[in-house]
Amino acid sequence: MQMFFREGLARIGKFSTPHGDIETPTVMPVINPNLNFLTKEELKSIGVQAVITNSYIIKRTASLEQDALKHGVHRLINFDGPIMTDSGTFQSYVYGDIEYGNKEIVQFQKDIGSDIITILDIFTKPQDSYEQAKAAVYETSRRLQEVNTPDSIIAGPIQGSIYPDLRRESARLMSEASYLPIGGVVPLLESYRYSDLVNIIINSKLNSDFSKPVHLFGGGHPMFFAFSVLLGVDIFDSASYIKYAKDNRVLYTEGTRNLKEIRDFPEWSPLFNKYSPVELIKADEKTRLKLLSLHNLKAIFNEITEIKERIYENTLYQYVEEKSMAHPALYRAYLEMLDHNLEPFWNISLKSPLYFFNSSTYKNTFIKRLVKFTEDYISNGKKTVLVSYRQWRHGFPVSDDILRSYETTDYNFLIEWNDIFIPMELENTYPVSQMVPSGVLDKIYRDDYIAWLKSINNDISFYDPSITGSEKIRNYSHSKINEVFHLQFKARKNLFVNSDKIIKSKATGHIRNIKRGEKIIATMRNDGFLTLSIYGGKLLNDMLDFPASRVIVTDDSGEFNSQGYNVFFKFVEDCDREIIAGNDVMVTSASGDLYAVGHATVSGKEMGFYRNGIAVKVHEGIN
Ligand code: GUN
Repeated sequence: MQMFFREGLARIGKFSTPHGDIETPTVMPVINPNLNFLTKEELKSIGVQAVITNSYIIKRTASLEQDALKHGVHRLINFDGPIMTDSGTFQSYVYGDIEYGNKEIVQFQKDIGSDIITILDIFTKPQDSYEQAKAAVYETSRRLQEVNTPDSIIAGPIQGSIYPDLRRESARLMSEASYLPIGGVVPLLESYRYSDLVNIIINSKLNSDFSKPVHLFGGGHPMFFAFSVLLGVDIFDSASYIKYAKDNRVLYTEGTRNLKEIRDFPEWSPLFNKYSPVELIKADEKTRLKLLSLHNLKAIFNEITEIKERIYENTLYQYVEEKSMAHPALYRAYLEMLDHNLEPFWNISLKSPLYFFNSSTYKNTFIKRLVKFTEDYISNGKKTVLVSYRQWRHGFPVSDDILRSYETTDYNFLIEWNDIFIPMELENTYPVSQMVPSGVLDKIYRDDYIAWLKSINNDISFYDPSITGSEKIRNYSHSKINEVFHLQFKARKNLFVNSDKIIKSKATGHIRNIKRGEKIIATMRNDGFLTLSIYGGKLLNDMLDFPASRVIVTDDSGEFNSQGYNVFFKFVEDCDREIIAGNDVMVTSASGDLYAVGHATVSGKEMGFYRNGIAVKVHEGIN
């Protein structure tokens, strides 16, 4: 699939099937071929792009089977968009053995013209023993091998119960399929075991082929969509919209209410101003089921719409943080998520501010990146000066008094910004420049934080304002660009020398360009990071050991990239696995010759998987 926008592991993507493209994230409503009461117009008016139905139910019902074989599954359920079919695995989990084998049910799905065909995987239950789950993982993989062909889209479910290593192994094995559902999770969702789910999704996702769509099988309740999408789920299926309707339950993104207890439908509902809850209760069962299903499906798609907006504006993480307060089980899941290292998948900066709420914010990816940097920053053997919140008077840029009082090149400066100490030179970079702290933590953690800093650098003192008036020329701006460079390119060497010219904006005083002679080396962006010119790229190529910060492309591609054209995934031969998404990289040949500089659209961990789309947006080529 192709990826267009991202935040963390969440992506806006596109996946093609014989009956059209699917834009992700999205939900496939489950269509029961025996009980198909929403028209394709009604489905599409809500935003449905694709649906899922069950080939096993079709096959075992003679009339449906014949109809499907004769006219195809699209005619059978009257939907002309992409249709995924499931295999009967879930029925065998609920009801015991079923009467068809893997090859047979896969062939049937091909015969009826399904767009996405599911193998007969083995459902792994949360209570399965390790040995049972392991056997299921290998048998499921064998069944994929048995039917996998490049001419169809085959869904190969990742199984493995709650065992992280089995989920990882299954993800690696099933990555040969073209579509990757995560299976065996329905009992966990039903019992609010979201923390286990987070674990399962992360272990599955990080070990699978990133270019393939990931589907959470049975994950149809909107309460957990945002979490799942942030962790890399692209597609959900939902039967809950009917299941709740049957019980007279009205779905909202936050939960459900009983039809008998509500006074009105919300404004966004397709039933608003058309029917009152009382009228619906009095209506015949068929009408009620249809109308409530429509309402419930709309609730589900509202959440998808919101999540997509959130990815575009880079606030999905904030949304998950908000959602985590909706239920204690979600809060636990949120903490579970923070305990995993997802740092490599986050862009160098986000468009949105970073809210510093509470102690769990210390586990935020960007804060972890900053704290790790701080550790390196004060490990350089220089004296470190702590400037307290009061002393720097709550505002960046840091006051000239501080700069005048010490020779900055001889000291590290850590500025207290409520809950965290920040290397002064990073004042204009993300997330420092975009941080909104609550200020509640310094009272609790300040002494511990300072003790931690002292355990790394024992020459730490507090800023002494009486040391003023030194007229030594500060080289603060040079320290600044070099520290930003260190953070951005994970290097401890300096790219910039004191004779480089720093050009600042007259209006804001912010650094704009860095020049050597007449040549621009780099430009400082609004997020406080550097964009390299091709000249800067040459300097970097000479400085960093190969293949750090390189994307290696074919010779043919290199010729185009040298002229300033973007790098496409299919021409990438290799890359530095540590590349941060959105960060500047050098585009080179296998022997290290520079073709261009640009920014990577995905991280080094993902780059090798994608086949379609742009890998590096080139800023400047060498020719
Ligand atoms: N529906 C819900 N869970 C599963 C699963 O694990 N496998 C299949 N094939 N379908 C499902």
